[in-house]
Amino acid sequence: MRRLLVEHEWNFKDLLVPCFVVEGVGRKEAINAMPGIFRYSLEYLLKELEHPCYREVGGILLFGIPATKDDSGAVAWHQNGIVQQACRAIKREFPDLLVITDLCLCSYTSHGHCGIIGKGKNVDNDRTLEVLSRVAVSYSEAGADIIAPSDMMDGRVGTLRAALDRYGFTDRLILSYAAKFASAFYGPFREAADSTPQFGDRKSYQMPPANRREALRELAEDVKEGADILMVKPGLPYLDLVREARERFETPLAVYNVSGEYAMVKAAAAQGWIDEARLVDEIMIGFKRSGADLIITYHAKDLYQWRENANKSIT
Ligand code: PBG
Repeated sequence: MRRLLVEHEWNFKDLLVPCFVVEGVGRKEAINAMPGIFRYSLEYLLKELEHPCYREVGGILLFGIPATKDDSGAVAWHQNGIVQQACRAIKREFPDLLVITDLCLCSYTSHGHCGIIGKGKNVDNDRTLEVLSRVAVSYSEAGADIIAPSDMMDGRVGTLRAALDRYGFTDRLILSYAAKFASAFYGPFREAADSTPQFGDRKSYQMPPANRREALRELAEDVKEGADILMVKPGLPYLDLVREARERFETPLAVYNVSGEYAMVKAAAAQGWIDEARLVDEIMIGFKRSGADLIITYHAKDLYQWRENANKSIT
């Protein structure tokens, strides 16, 4: 009876799994505040992707960590950049796996900001758009299916759409980090992506956590500019915006269950304070009930394992 009347479910196909690929060979590096998550050099990443969990999820969200950085983030659009190499290899080995590439400069710039620095140590929005366009085109050439800009520059969705179309990539989608807040919940990720800003913070381009109306304007702007999928990020503290975006826009909607949210669960689980499997299932249901279609989450592999274990104990 309860099963019959269930209103919301999540499926593995709704989950997108962040993957970190680092330049070099023989590297499998644990991330301190994200137990179970690693940065892999390419050959290890390909091994990781053989795990059956990746056959069932919706796709992966790829982050690159290059060997060298400079002021301009130019390594991000090198044809043999780490993300480009990874896209080509993944598409060769796993042609059915959907590949989304995160698009940002923060892992590629020596200063760790998401764009190019102009006058007065501020990010130069429009010069950054030019670089991002080049990077987006080069990720598409390498085989990325979806480009996910997380830089938060103004006007980037429209600019990227025009650039992709001009180069013939009319079939590539844009998943926009539309409402992305300047959040303490990204702390563990910055260790993984080696992307901590070397001065200042991201408050001039990411949103203030208190501003709900501004977030709705950002979402509406990205819809207008041609975003194919919208995202709200972080997830758990911003479910009001997930619900609101669901009601206002017909565009598919993703939520990012970010590194700090994952770290909190893992820390409590390690202490034996919570039932991790039940709690994570409840978090996924919460995202779906709030109105998200897609969930970007570091918990995907654990969820897969828990389901396998449950199936085993039934048979
Ligand atoms: C890059 C980017 C960040 C995250 C995704 N893309 C970090 C940031 O903006 O500082 C965070 C993801 C997470 O915390 O899991 N701009």
